Amino acid sequence: MSTRRPDPQEQQLLEAWQLRERLIAFQGNEAVRVFHGPGEGSGELAGIAIERFGAHAWVTEWEGKGREASQATRKAVAHFLVGRGLKSGVWLGRPRQGVPAVPEPFFGEVPDQEFTVSEEGLKFGIRLREVRHPGLFLDHLPLRRWLRTALRGQRVLNTFAYTGSLSVAAGAAGAASVTTLDLSKPTVRWAESNWALNGFQGVESRFIFGDVFEWLPRLKREGQQYDCVISDPPSFSRGNKGSFSTAKDLGKLHELLFDVLAPGGILVSSINSAQVPYEKMEAQIVGAARAKSLELQVLSRIDLPPTFPTRAGDPEARYLKGLVARGR
Ligand SMILES: C[S@@+](CC[C@H](N)C(=O)[O-])C[C@H]1O[C@@H](n2cnc3c(N)ncnc32)[C@H](O)[C@@H]1O
Repeated sequence: MSTRRPDPQEQQLLEAWQLRERLIAFQGNEAVRVFHGPGEGSGELAGIAIERFGAHAWVTEWEGKGREASQATRKAVAHFLVGRGLKSGVWLGRPRQGVPAVPEPFFGEVPDQEFTVSEEGLKFGIRLREVRHPGLFLDHLPLRRWLRTALRGQRVLNTFAYTGSLSVAAGAAGAASVTTLDLSKPTVRWAESNWALNGFQGVESRFIFGDVFEWLPRLKREGQQYDCVISDPPSFSRGNKGSFSTAKDLGKLHELLFDVLAPGGILVSSINSAQVPYEKMEAQIVGAARAKSLELQVLSRIDLPPTFPTRAGDPEARYLKGLVARGR
């Protein structure tokens, strides 16, 4: 009798899948990062991440993080996913610089239309075609969980909202009102449709399409005050008011955020920047708080979930970071 020795790539994918099973990541959750190459892969798999959205997969390949994936590797990934019941997958190459192309189907019949997945009972619309991201950032699951437990009866402002997943979490908490703000019109529409999917009763909602740097002063002029202000900017962006980078402009951004934070309100501030260490981020936020005569009490820190393992001794790999703090 011969036992087949698993191929090293298959072994990496299998170990990652089994880790998710041990973490119970699949329970009540149709959206899961099932493989995080930078922390758990090697060779051609070191530069890819695989996310499962129901029966469909989204693979991201980062140029330069691992050896470029060959057709054989793509086939091996497809074979592995089919063996776990997945029906289709797309593959998106992310260049080191600039905007990626749209993803390419690499196995099965990829849905043409948006479909809905459930994450711990909340619903989100996922798109696999003609987009550069499927619509749900899976690394923010711990933050969505935190918001769901903390915002009952609160007035919430979600800035840099993208498809509004953090607004949905606030709605699920039973917030009094949720305002969702993003620079991209299609994204704000997507956020509205995610909100509608969840059918919240008795939560006031407002959706704003615009630049945070124009709208925060405008909301202040309107006399708006929020019990929770959420900020999750990209590492670099260019809006109507010029460019913004998390490396340089977090202080300026937070001064504007504090202008609309009600006394005793909660700041949720997250960044996705490998090059900005947590301590530097916190120092910029504390500087902005002092400029507004506020002291901050840190309630929680934002970090990657266990479905995004990183190698110990590699702090840059923990790109997602931030804090939840109360202003006094
Ligand atoms: C990292 S995503 C936010 C993810 C979101 N918090 C979530 O959990 O799904 C960054 C978002 O910021 C938006 N954005 C970038 N610059 C902006 C600006 N100046 N004003 C408003 N939104 C901006 C982008 O359109 C994008 O949707």
